[in-house]
Amino acid sequence: MPQLKEITASQLDTKEFVKEKVAEISETVGSGVAINALSGGVDSSAVTMLGAKALGNRLKTYFIDNGIMREGEPQKVAAIFKQLGVNVEIFDAQEEFFAALKGITDPEEKREAITQTFYKKVFGSLVKKSGAKYLLQGTILTDIDETVAGIKRQHNVFEQLGIDPQEAFGYKIIEPLVQLRKDGVRKVAEALGLPLSMYNRMPVPGPALSARVIGEATKERIALVRKATSILEEELAAVKAFQYMAILHSDRVTGIRDNKREFGQQIEIRCWDSIDARQARPTQLPFNTLEKLSNRLVREVPGVVSVTYNIATKPPSTMEAI
Ligand code: XMP
Repeated sequence: MPQLKEITASQLDTKEFVKEKVAEISETVGSGVAINALSGGVDSSAVTMLGAKALGNRLKTYFIDNGIMREGEPQKVAAIFKQLGVNVEIFDAQEEFFAALKGITDPEEKREAITQTFYKKVFGSLVKKSGAKYLLQGTILTDIDETVAGIKRQHNVFEQLGIDPQEAFGYKIIEPLVQLRKDGVRKVAEALGLPLSMYNRMPVPGPALSARVIGEATKERIALVRKATSILEEELAAVKAFQYMAILHSDRVTGIRDNKREFGQQIEIRCWDSIDARQARPTQLPFNTLEKLSNRLVREVPGVVSVTYNIATKPPSTMEAI
């Protein structure tokens, strides 16, 4: 596999890039159909726009509702794309994903379960139904670096690991963003006419909230972390950080509520300053912001008795907890 040539954000000529990628997609797909999964993150949003420009309604865009997304995410994202003239079909696959995650506690096994459910089970059948030969997806260079280095198996990396998607899943994958990092993708997304709320959007990993539950990602535990995430996003909305997240730990700790012992849940908050996710430092949040956040989390998320703030840098931490 040849080394991918990086295009840095400062080198990037967005107009040229868009023109080139639209032409490449048109040429590769020919008169056929391609499909893609939109998660609403900046990478898949940029790819959706590139694909729609190249293929019009020969691109079928699905939002896979895997049950591990943030509150109201499928509907919000589909509505934004509708305004941009792109039709997005929401596909309910919640039961498939929770069945695949059942009983799994190991981080890499969890990622693998999501990968297989997404690409083989859900997409395998959608591809068959649509007659598509190609899947368009928003893999970026950082995903590949970390997967190849064996740090984290990103859900969307195959060829660099010696996996042929045609053989494994029955379709080819087109990745127009593989030479870019997050800062470059944001510039391309802006050039493609996406609104600020989309091109500036905080990253959410492919395995979504299941990457933020340590241990088994059950429906109940996902619901807890989803609630914590909503509170976090409300309280930190004005903070300029690369990414923030709430993590539900698997260890419980002794707490006290209404004068009674409560062996409760622990939430860890992470908030990162970073340029391209390769290195990151914790944001120096004001203590009263953290206190307010903690007060709401213990009050509003059932069973939470402990809230911590991560102050380690990446490396040796990674940004997500699993
Ligand atoms: P880590 O945790 O590896 O995260 O330091 C670096 C950046 O990548 C995001 N991330 C992912 N993105 N698929 C993705 O598309 C994944 O499997 C995945 N895992 C982590 C993470 O949110 C952060 O922005």
